[in-house]
Amino acid sequence: SEEDLQAHFEHTIARDQRIEPRDWMPEAYRKTMIRQIAQHAHSEIIGMQPEGNWITRAPSLRRKAILLAKVQDEAGHGLYLYSASTTLGADRADLTDKLINGRQKYSSIFNYPTPTFADVGVIGWLVDGAAICNQVPLCRSSYGPYARAMIRICKEESFHQRQGYELLMTMMRGTDAQREMVQDAVNRWWWPSLMMFGPPDAESPNTAQSMAWKIKRHTNDELRQRFVDMSVPQAEALGVTFPDPDLKWNAERGHYDFGEIDWSELKRVISGDGPCNAERIERRRKAQEEGAWVREAAAAHAAKKGASA
Ligand code: ACO
Repeated sequence: SEEDLQAHFEHTIARDQRIEPRDWMPEAYRKTMIRQIAQHAHSEIIGMQPEGNWITRAPSLRRKAILLAKVQDEAGHGLYLYSASTTLGADRADLTDKLINGRQKYSSIFNYPTPTFADVGVIGWLVDGAAICNQVPLCRSSYGPYARAMIRICKEESFHQRQGYELLMTMMRGTDAQREMVQDAVNRWWWPSLMMFGPPDAESPNTAQSMAWKIKRHTNDELRQRFVDMSVPQAEALGVTFPDPDLKWNAERGHYDFGEIDWSELKRVISGDGPCNAERIERRRKAQEEGAWVREAAAAHAAKKGASA
């Protein structure tokens, strides 16, 4: 009966075991998982754009090869995650449609511009660093295919983070102009990186239920604090500062205190009114349209193969 199924589901969660595609799950759990996985997949795909802008202008062959590999990884993560969403009954074409029509979200962070090459380094260091902070606990998320996808994704994100930090270290050993470029990029990305973790716990509608279902293992504010604590010593080692006069060690809490985040900015960017939202979606729409003939050809080929088999 429905009651037995519900009890079995809850028991599985309580024992820290995984929910698998064929298992019964409450409709709301399925809906939440599809929402989160789709938003995550969209973020990876849209996230190719800000850095992709620099592939043709990377300053050396080595930097170009690294950047190409990184952006290609993001495409892989997106496809991997769309596949995970299909195990819940979602349809990839439908999800892409919803992204292009603004009916599904993607991370706010990818709506900021990348005017200098230092942005590539700072995205690796801070944005991918924040992504790792958020995603490592998701390796223990209750939905099996998502949790398993996170393991590989986190390994690759670690490489992305290291390449960003190494790039910045190199620039910091360069000229004054290069050091200024790094500091300027850090100033622009610091606050948006903190916003990646989502609204404060008191204003996060999904956290309580997602924690109860063990989809999320920590709240938005917990992970944000963890990210601040790990970033400050890295900034010191690099020789840059964060644009926050209230950032200081609090011995009593054993954490860094930090200033008030401009939540109105996060709301604006999530609702489509960030610096690059229109440009990002337009580019995605164009890629989708220009790829239509490939999808048609692949479908025709598959149908022909099927007919002759
Ligand atoms: N950008 C865009 N949307 C956001 C952001 C953000 N930075 N933060 C929160 N939101 C959205 C939520 O997705 C939710 O959307 P909904 O209206 O569809 O319900 C809404 O704002 C309210 O937020 P929460 O209740 O806190 O939502 P949730 O519990 O899902 O937590 C979080 C948000 C932390 C982002 C979670 O979904 C998550 O961990 N996702 C997986 C990681 C991910 O998507 N990372 C993408 C960026 S990293 C990268 O791709 C390199």
